[in-house]
Amino acid sequence: MWQVRSVAGTAVAAPAVENLAMDNLIPVPESVRPDPATTFALSPQTSIRAAGDAAEVGEYLAGILRPSTGFPLPVRDDAGAIALEIDATAETGPAGYRLLVTGETVGLRAVSAEGLFNGVQTLRQLLPAAIESRTEQPGPWSVPGGEIVDRPRFAHRAAMLDVARHFFTVEQVKRYIDQIVRYKLNRLHLHLTDDQGWRIDIDSWPKLTEYGGGTEVGGGPGGHYSKQDYAEIVEYAASRHVVVIPEIDLPGHTNAALASYAELNRDGVAPPRYTGIEVGFSSLCADKEVTYEFVEDVIRELAEITPGPYLHIGGDEAEATSEEDYKEFVSRILPVVAKYGKTAVGWHEYAKAAPQGEAVVQYWGTTDTDPLLPEAVARGNKILVSPANKSYLDMKYDENTPLGLKWAGFIEVADAYGWDPGSYLRDVPEEAILGVEAPLWSETLENSDHVEFMAFPRLPALAELAWSPKSAQDWESFAQRLATHGPRLEASGINYYRSPQVPWNI
Ligand code: ACM
Repeated sequence: MWQVRSVAGTAVAAPAVENLAMDNLIPVPESVRPDPATTFALSPQTSIRAAGDAAEVGEYLAGILRPSTGFPLPVRDDAGAIALEIDATAETGPAGYRLLVTGETVGLRAVSAEGLFNGVQTLRQLLPAAIESRTEQPGPWSVPGGEIVDRPRFAHRAAMLDVARHFFTVEQVKRYIDQIVRYKLNRLHLHLTDDQGWRIDIDSWPKLTEYGGGTEVGGGPGGHYSKQDYAEIVEYAASRHVVVIPEIDLPGHTNAALASYAELNRDGVAPPRYTGIEVGFSSLCADKEVTYEFVEDVIRELAEITPGPYLHIGGDEAEATSEEDYKEFVSRILPVVAKYGKTAVGWHEYAKAAPQGEAVVQYWGTTDTDPLLPEAVARGNKILVSPANKSYLDMKYDENTPLGLKWAGFIEVADAYGWDPGSYLRDVPEEAILGVEAPLWSETLENSDHVEFMAFPRLPALAELAWSPKSAQDWESFAQRLATHGPRLEASGINYYRSPQVPWNI
């Protein structure tokens, strides 16, 4: 017998047999109907049926399952016990899915490949943790029976990686993409430029990367992406249904550009490159025409290699720019973003320049209100919520965390989980909220181990806030479910913080 069960507020006990239950999913789905009497078993004979646009998702699934099971798992367009189907009548919205597990079949239906991809992330969490191993494991490989119907609360579920303070290679960025999609995030914001480094080639201003990309915090070698490298990241992200949002931080946070080109400076003298971690000391000159030639070249070249709809122009902490210059500068570059076909995103200060229409205002403050926000909503802007004291993955967990900063406070897992993106901001209605982003600044982070330690497990917490229905969000339930993800993260080779708030099953 199937029981209709709401997941909301359920205190879930650790299962007696690992994962033979649908209770441990993160983000928690919209609805779960377990059929405890039934399980599906993967075998050496199992095939994956996926035709047309579903085939790429089928291959992605096979790529996850083959190494650990050692099964061939062919992807076929005619038959297979695991069936991925695009079905315009699925009624699960643009990114949702329906997953039905019986004794004989696993069926995934969605209106799009994106929905199937999200369903695959659920399916992998229903298998034993060892499925994540990249070497052959003994199994058995059972999937609990039942039905899940699921769709996201917010369309925009983002992570940001700061590749400017410390540079991260294409391979490191791909690794992070593979990690964020496990928890159904679908946007990667790349903070490509800052005082310490310019990380993307701009052909018309080659010294930006040749010189301005040649260092990083602490004086290391830095690095940058060629346009080919960037295209490789964008394409890899797209294959995982992730849209890349590139950021060129303007008019502050620009020492790397100012150091590369003397003519961008007010006095015509280039400052030295910068390898410290102070902010707010650099600015482009709002009253020099060369500034606008430079910015237009950058925006044009970046827009050309960015298929996604957004271009992030920064705008934060422009403490070395007068209020008047700031408004003039931002007002002049917003039409340039539009001219090259992109929707502007900016840190919330840029709302001072009154961006119009669907422009995205990314709130990074530490309180639940800012006078710029209701004005932005009134103009029709969309609000992306990234409160620094809730969602900044580079804040320390507590005073003992060896990495990270603490200017916005300590953020333990329960703090990252304990707020509601839809109602957090006073004076901003939920309809104006585009989604949630978890930024990760890299002043103290030098490698993937560092990135993962700060992101996990707070990124899954924020992912649940962005994906799951508010009614299903519950800290006790989340902590219990997260505990079962410890072995899963370990099998995946993801470094993570063993928060004392979580009753880890390890
Ligand atoms: C920021 O943290 N300066 C956006």
